[in-house]
This record gives sequence, structure tokens and C-alpha cells, in this order.
Amino acid sequence: MKIIVVGTGFVGLTHAAVCSEYGHEVYAYDIDEKRLAAYRSGDAEKIEHYVNEPGLANIIEETMDRYLFFTNDITDVVEGVDAFFLCLPTPPKPNGSSDLSYYFDALNHIASLLAKRKDKKRVVLINKSTVPVGTARQLENILKEHNVPNFGIASNPEFLPEGDAVEKSRRPDRVVVGADSEEDLVIMRRIYSQFYNHVRIRYIETTPETAEAIKYVANTLLLTYISFWNGVGARLGEAFPNVRMEDLKRGVTSDARISTWGSYVSNGAGGSCFGKDIQSLIYQMKTAGADANLLQSVYTINEYQKTYLIDRAMREADVNFNHKSVALLGLAFKQRTNDMRDASSLQVAEGLLARGVREIRAYDPLAIHEAKRFFNPEKNHLYEKISYHDSVKDALNGSDMLFISTDWEEFRGLSGTIEQTCKPPYLIIDGRRMIPDYEELAKRGYGYIAVGSPYIAPSDQLVSQDKS
Ligand SMILES: NC(=O)c1ccc[n+]([C@@H]2O[C@H](COP(=O)([O-])OP(=O)(O)OC[C@H]3O[C@@H](n4cnc5c(N)ncnc54)[C@H](O)[C@@H]3O)[C@@H](O)[C@H]2O)c1
Repeated sequence: MKIIVVGTGFVGLTHAAVCSEYGHEVYAYDIDEKRLAAYRSGDAEKIEHYVNEPGLANIIEETMDRYLFFTNDITDVVEGVDAFFLCLPTPPKPNGSSDLSYYFDALNHIASLLAKRKDKKRVVLINKSTVPVGTARQLENILKEHNVPNFGIASNPEFLPEGDAVEKSRRPDRVVVGADSEEDLVIMRRIYSQFYNHVRIRYIETTPETAEAIKYVANTLLLTYISFWNGVGARLGEAFPNVRMEDLKRGVTSDARISTWGSYVSNGAGGSCFGKDIQSLIYQMKTAGADANLLQSVYTINEYQKTYLIDRAMREADVNFNHKSVALLGLAFKQRTNDMRDASSLQVAEGLLARGVREIRAYDPLAIHEAKRFFNPEKNHLYEKISYHDSVKDALNGSDMLFISTDWEEFRGLSGTIEQTCKPPYLIIDGRRMIPDYEELAKRGYGYIAVGSPYIAPSDQLVSQDKS
């Protein structure tokens, strides 16, 4: 099949690469020429600067210029095209609704090209982005306004988790396709021939509106589950000293009906999707006259979670952040990605700077380049207080306290490194429960405050001498 993928960010690049691997002729189209140049270079480091996913650069290297082509101009490739996959950003507006301007800009351009096409064979325009219920219908109207002949619309939401995009794209849990006509469903089955009738992959055909709703319900349900553990499990562990989080989790999730995924407690879930999608669904439901109280609470719990450990440190450990040096471990919104969109670390850093810290000594295995973009001192001079380091040890060096914000494996069990590098009084604020032997550390003079546990004061009270 001849396919044009519109937008080559995280979703579009992965989709284009995996489609090319299955032998489709794929044109990956973007308006960002710098990004395209990086992809065309075939250099893994340059590609990963934009989309850092295990295995992705290898596929690009193998299929580029044979099945996969990068372009910023599709005028000459629309002839004979079978399908467009729209993988464009849909960021939130201040009122929570989805900003579809990128979408409609791209669509108007595509529609004008399709209207002039000589070849009149069926072409399907497929929404892969997460878009409000009813967007496919709007898309249809735009194409009609441009008098595009012989087209169909489909909704085919993407469920990829970052960090595991290639694997999940090759073997998704399900493929959801919403379309009105059998003709378009048949084209979709040909594109996804490796998944259609697959024994382990559910191939679900439905209406475009249902497909759009499936994506929102799935994402907001995942965030609801995470927020349940943060809003109930973590609160219990913090309020009752003898409630042990790890045992609580094991005991509850031993029930086959209850997922272990998402049962970790944390300083909030970030990323480019959860926050934006829940806000959009709340807006859509309210606009349609439906009650969205449950989702509103989930959103509030998740946002509160991102910085509440700073407040707890002040309240429970009597910490004064003014003029302190804080090591910040973890900037990416989760492990195995360099993506910092809506990462908890952004709010943690803002919260620490607002409380007058002298410096933030940051370390992340992948996201430092991204972090420099977010914390640009030209936007806010306070960001000059953030320094970036090449290792955990460097970041800890000379700090008065530590904040762990991302669940990178290398941050697990850091007590030895902390003890070697930072002498008590020293406070550890753990947003990911990465230090299992915190009670031992407390015996040696370290204070520990973590999501899901009450504040553990150092047994020799060294931190309390530092309440300046
Ligand atoms: N990132 C995820 O984990 C994920 C997972 C599932 C679904 N989604 C959804 O997929 C969509 C895309 O997300 P993403 O993370 O890939 O976005 P992204 O911001 O990483 O990439 C979007 C790309 O679109 C390009 N673009 C913008 N306007 C364009 C235009 N007019 N023509 C051509 N290209 C244009 C940008 O240059 C960029 O390369 C969003 O709706 C998102 O919610 C994202």
C-alpha cells in the first residue's frame, strides 16, 4: 500500500517505520525540516534527539530510501496514495479543550492537493492522533468542502507507551478501526494485514466516534488507576505508620482482577497524553451536558501529587528550602524516555525555585538536552540556578538534600552512593520509593520522606539541627 504519514513525532515516526518494515511504501511527511534532516541522516544519535525509542533508528536505517521516504513536500506523491495517517499534535488549550489547529492546517493543505489529483482511486484519511469525539466527522466535512473525490475517513487511535513504542507497534494489544463504509474497512484490513485475524491481537471494527471514545476512556482509566493508588494507597501508607506500601500493593494486586500495572505510588503521572487527554475528555463531557466529577477528581489528585512532597517536607520535616542546594534525580516523565512533556520534574523544579533554593543539581540519563530546552534561562532567570551533571554522584556532590522524581532503574537502591557522597544531616525526598532500606539510612542520620510513607526522621536528629 502507498501510505503518507503526516507528522513524524513520536507516534508518526514509529508508525511510519513499522509500516515500512511490513513492506508498505511509506512517505513520512513533516513541516519541520530540521527534524527530517536528522531522520534522513540515518544517524541514531540525531534521530534519538527527536524520538528516543529502542530499535527505531535501526528500522529507519534498514528501510530508508527503499520503503521509507522522508519529505516536507507531498505534492508529487499524492497520486496513487491509498491512505493518510494523521499523527499531528493535539495540545490542550487553557480551558482544557483540544487545540486542533495543527490538525486543520495540515488537513486543509492535504485536501487542496487531493482535490487536484488526477487519479481518482479511493483514499482513506485516518486519524491516529487523539482527537475529540466527532473529529473524524469534521474531517469529512472539510474534505467535502474542498470537493475531494472518492475519499473515506477512519479513526485508528494509537495506544503506544513511550519507551516501548517499537515493540508495542509490532505487537499491539489491539487495533481499533472506526469507519463508516465496508470499502474503507477493507483498505484498513489490507494495511494491517499482519494484525487482522491474528490470534493474540484484538482487531476491533466500529464507528469513528466509538474509536475516538475508546482512546479517551482507555487513557483516563489508566490515569484513574494510577491516581487511585496515589490518592488512596499512598495516603494510607502516609497516615498509618504500620501500613507498608509494598505489602499493601502485593496483597491487593494478588487478585487476578486487579492490575499490578499502575499500582506503584509516585509523585504524579506526566507525559504528553494523560494530562491533556483527561482535560479534553472533561471538557467534552461537560460540553455535552454529562457529569465529569470523577475525572475532575482524578485530574486534581494527579496534579496535587506532583509537588505535594515539597509541602510535606516543609510541614513534616520542618525543612526550609531557602538557600539550600538540592540534587534532582530524574527529569524525564518516566524511565526509558527523554520526553519531558508534563513531567513531574518540571513542577518540582518550579516549586523548589519558588521556595528560594540556591541551586538545583540535576541528573537524568537521557533527558538533559530536553531539560535545557524547558528550563531556558532566557524564559526565566531563575533557571540559571539549575546545573546539569553527568552522573548521580556528581549531582549529589555538595547538595543538602535529594529529590528523586523519575523511576530510572539506576536510582534504585542508592543508599550506598548517598552515604559515600553526602554526610548527614541530609534529607532524601523520594517521589518513586527507590530507596528500600530507608530505615537503615535513618539510623545513620539521614531523614527520609517518600510518597506512601510517613516522614522518617533521622534517629540521631541531625536534620532537626539544620532547621534554619
Ligand atoms: N506521545 C505519545 O505517547 C502518544 C501515544 C498515543 C497517542 N498520541 C497522540 O498522537 C498525536 C501525536 O503525538 P506525538 O507525541 O507524536 O506528537 P509530536 O509533537 O511528537 O509530533 C507531531 C509532529 O507533527 C508535526 N507537524 C505539526 N504540524 C504539521 C503539519 N501541518 N504538517 C505536517 N506535520 C506537522 C510536528 O513537526 C511534529 O513532528 C497526539 O494527538 C497524541 O495525543 C501520543
